[in-house]
Amino acid sequence: MDSPYDVLGLDADADDTEIEQAYRRRVKESHPDRGGSAAEFQRVRKAYEAVLSGTAAPPADATAEDDATATAGGNTASSPTAADSAANTDDRDSQEHSADSAGDRPPTPTRVEYLNYDVVADHQWEFDDPALFERASDADLDPDDYGMFLAEPGETLLEAAEERGFAWPFACRGGACANCAVAVVEGELDSTVDNVLTDDLVDRGFRLSCIGRPVSETLQVVYNVKHLPGLDDLRLPADRFERARADD
Ligand code: FES
Repeated sequence: MDSPYDVLGLDADADDTEIEQAYRRRVKESHPDRGGSAAEFQRVRKAYEAVLSGTAAPPADATAEDDATATAGGNTASSPTAADSAANTDDRDSQEHSADSAGDRPPTPTRVEYLNYDVVADHQWEFDDPALFERASDADLDPDDYGMFLAEPGETLLEAAEERGFAWPFACRGGACANCAVAVVEGELDSTVDNVLTDDLVDRGFRLSCIGRPVSETLQVVYNVKHLPGLDDLRLPADRFERARADD
């Protein structure tokens, strides 16, 4: 079976930006609407999640190189040393620090972990359960329902989800309804314009994904919460906007 790195065409030392670019390219190539297939599309998504979560096996050529080095009796620079790990940790710490101090929007992508509210309801999980995302991670859910992706700085959460092949709910795309609402469990989703959500809903962690931009390094959201009490009343019929766009 191909390594997730091979599926995405990545080197073992690819950084987050390279991972993101490779994923976008492969999503387009493998999408059923663009000549790919559903199976290949899912394979690409699973590979992306495995690379992001750090569970992916290294690419085949990296394994071959390691084997060749070991056969030649060399051990130079093939495996990271404790000092390398410490240095990498220091680098990450310093990057995280500079991201924190750089202002509202981090210069690096936000790692978004998402969960479909339908799954929460089906499993009768408690919405405010602190272990909610751990349960989701252990439940072998469909990639449409649970997973991770990287959102680029400046992207709205809805744009980021759509760029990566997901079909999350929306209607107006302008902060005027609650169709695109998400519940932020951890992290921050910044909205710079007024919207329809009441103070109470905002205090409870609800945000609009069509105008909300991730501003934390990690973000956990439950999407598709539009039917929850308080949000359902703010929904608009999505087809009205689809008709308006078709008439443009
Ligand atoms: S789609 Fe209407 S507020 Fe986001």
